[in-house]
Amino acid sequence: SSADSVTVHFINRDGERLTTTAKEGESLLEVVVNQNLAIDGFGACEGTLACSTCHLIFEKDAFQKLDAISDEEMDMLDLAYGLTETSRLGCQVRIKKLMDGLTVQVPVEVSDIRSQLEVGKQS
Ligand code: FES
Repeated sequence: SSADSVTVHFINRDGERLTTTAKEGESLLEVVVNQNLAIDGFGACEGTLACSTCHLIFEKDAFQKLDAISDEEMDMLDLAYGLTETSRLGCQVRIKKLMDGLTVQVPVEVSDIRSQLEVGKQS
């Protein structure tokens, strides 16, 4: 692995561990897309803060080192299923060198807020 690559592990919805390399500055959504990781329904809005399907759960230590959350991310995160105290949206978290060896959990359940809104419109 080259000097600027960071190893990241995703624990997939089915419990399988996907180990990949990321570059500094990529978002976790970009890592999933660029590395073609088979994570069901992930990143449906392509990082435009409109879906919450990129919900990821961090380990406490790693979570505390992340950049502060924006109000926009907080609002969308609130709509994610299975929200935890160490949840963030993967499209908003950028890879840093110090994250080398990071493990993130993909929640078992996924909600695409856009489909919920569609359902809401019909009723
Ligand atoms: Fe939709 Fe992150 S990909 S909010």
